[in-house]
Amino acid sequence: MIEIELIENAFAAVTPYVRERHADKAGMEISSKDHATDLLTEVDLEVQRRVAAMITEAFPHDLIVAEEEGRTRYPDDPNARAWLIDPIDGTQNFVRSLLPEFGISIAFAQDGLLVAGGVSFPITGDVFLAGRGAGALHNGCTTRVSDVRSLTTARVEIDFGGPSIRQRTLDRAGSILLHTGQFRCHCAAVLGLCSVASGDSDAYVHVALSPWDYAAGLLLAEEAGGRSSDFHGNPIHLFRENDGILVSNGHLHDELLAHINTK
Ligand code: IPD
Ligand code: CA
Ligand code: CA
Repeated sequence: MIEIELIENAFAAVTPYVRERHADKAGMEISSKDHATDLLTEVDLEVQRRVAAMITEAFPHDLIVAEEEGRTRYPDDPNARAWLIDPIDGTQNFVRSLLPEFGISIAFAQDGLLVAGGVSFPITGDVFLAGRGAGALHNGCTTRVSDVRSLTTARVEIDFGGPSIRQRTLDRAGSILLHTGQFRCHCAAVLGLCSVASGDSDAYVHVALSPWDYAAGLLLAEEAGGRSSDFHGNPIHLFRENDGILVSNGHLHDELLAHINTK
């Protein structure tokens, strides 16, 4: 699929730059956005510009929805060909982390449906790619979700996000936290979602993600055999508000929904 090739080429083009900048952060321009811990670096901006330029060169009429530079507006026509870019997901980890867990996320949607997506982890060199109906690849090999069927042995990623959604996260995910074998919170949606796709994790929960955060990762997890829904079990709508995002290996989905909806 030509869109997947473009995603792969974009990763190859920007990854060396991101690795270089991560290795030498002295003097890097860093500012904050909505709140003090919501960061923006010059690398986020440069990656987004480079990826968007490659997309526009290949598909001049396609829409681009991206996290930075005021490109967050959803398409007026939900059926348009649209790309979703998160230039650095996990910017906090990019700026400050012993184990730098961040990734570049690019997805392509048509008729509001995810068609292609990829996530690159520049530091480890891991690349995940998926096409609808074509399965998911991790470094060129087919990847599948886990077969874990019991919450007591499961590993669930509960992504607590920024301060404004902490209480909501506790309210909705508190029961999961208490009933799950292990949990993680890496604060990089791409990592949580790709971990479900690779079978390293059994589910990922977030109360309020934006489409550029989850688009590629959600397709990857689905194509790896997983299931996704909002907190009521309804399908995720890419360009509408969703009440939460739950992505799982499928086996644990209904049980996790029951916990989320525990009063
Ligand atoms: C953030 C990460 C984090 C999630 C936040 C996102 P950013 O994206 O995906 O895991 O909890 O809601 O905003 O700001 O690092 O691109
Ligand atoms: Ca993000
Ligand atoms: Ca980002």
